[in-house]
Amino acid sequence: MTNNHISNKERIDKHIDTLAWYNSTPTKGITRFSYTEQDRKAREYLLDKMAELGLQITQDSVGNIRARLEGSYSDAPPVLTGSHIDTVRHGGKYDGVVGVVCALEALTVFKEQSYIPQRPIDLIIFVEEEGVNFGAGLAGSKALVGTYTPETLKTLVNDDGVSMYDGAKSFGLDPDTMGDHLLKPGDAHAMVEVHIEQSVVLDTEKISLGIVTGIAGIEWLRVEIEGQPDHAGAMPMQYRKDPMAGAAEIIATIEETARSGALPTTVATVGKILCSPNVPNVIPEKVHLVVDIRDVDPAGIETVTRMLIQKLEQVASRRNLSYTVKNVSSIGPTTCSEKVVDALEQSAKKRGIAYKYMISGALHDTAVLAGITEVGMLFVPSIHGRSHCPQEYTSIDDIAKGCDVLLGALEKLSKL
Ligand code: HGY
Ligand code: MN
Ligand code: MN
Repeated sequence: MTNNHISNKERIDKHIDTLAWYNSTPTKGITRFSYTEQDRKAREYLLDKMAELGLQITQDSVGNIRARLEGSYSDAPPVLTGSHIDTVRHGGKYDGVVGVVCALEALTVFKEQSYIPQRPIDLIIFVEEEGVNFGAGLAGSKALVGTYTPETLKTLVNDDGVSMYDGAKSFGLDPDTMGDHLLKPGDAHAMVEVHIEQSVVLDTEKISLGIVTGIAGIEWLRVEIEGQPDHAGAMPMQYRKDPMAGAAEIIATIEETARSGALPTTVATVGKILCSPNVPNVIPEKVHLVVDIRDVDPAGIETVTRMLIQKLEQVASRRNLSYTVKNVSSIGPTTCSEKVVDALEQSAKKRGIAYKYMISGALHDTAVLAGITEVGMLFVPSIHGRSHCPQEYTSIDDIAKGCDVLLGALEKLSKL
């Protein structure tokens, strides 16, 4: 007999609202970077809730957290479910948190109903998913599967010159021992992540849930353009070596190529730009850009990358500039597993909740876990598609529906 589990809206709402307090920019959205005091407080809140449930809690050497609901076959590879609690700067209160809170709520409901799954079910919280602190997205999950070694973490450096390796150490962790915690193929039975859609489809079509069939690939390129600092008023235009003017041409090419020169599914932007010495009356010496290029088809990413480098070459020779281009983070497109998609679909059907198949343009740790297990994702609507901004909003009704469907999917996936 399968239990018809129902999640508790008020409890979900309280978790989301409480976590939103752990925020370093309370007057403008949510900012909670990895290994900060805000991160520590959010972790403590969640660790308390997991301990209250009697879950077996482990935190690995870079700060990924796992909390296990024991199964009747305790040696069976577990089902993983969760997301991240770090945010972008001035972001929203739902990105990542919805997946963590739904996972916590699911294990709470199972406990309340004394439901014992056959396979263990692990709530998982990944560190540094956004990559906005140390400059590379999905860093915690990449460390968990061994793509990032402790040595790699020393090369991921934030704007204050602190590496993820040192950030982890100052947070009380021991990144050198991450090798003892790696997840390898066979170590997990499946991974399922609930997440806000972060785009307009579900809200526009008034559909409650999205079952993700694929996740776009991503390329983050760090471009440094160097010119010559000079007086902004005195130096005649024909003698200038202005890297900001060069950057402007590059950014226009990136946007043009993604919009009409690559594939319909290709997207790209430059969301981060640093300029030195960054004062109005000095022609800049150096400009640092991070380019974010994505597509479900790698060919689209390759096209934008190729056009970017061609343009850089042209602009640098015409303007007497030098440049470097470095890949800082990338992952190929992911296809979700039929087993997980089917478990989500059966669960939604059983509860009579409308859903649609969809692709994720946003990136998620689930894409990294696809390298070692079968994965799937469930989206809940973002009102007006807004995300990564203070306006980010998802209704508690839709989140509860997502949690109810997650419960059914976990029940199915945790059967031997
Ligand atoms: O950038 C992303 O797609 C995700 O929100 N980290
Ligand atoms: Mn996210
Ligand atoms: Mn995000």
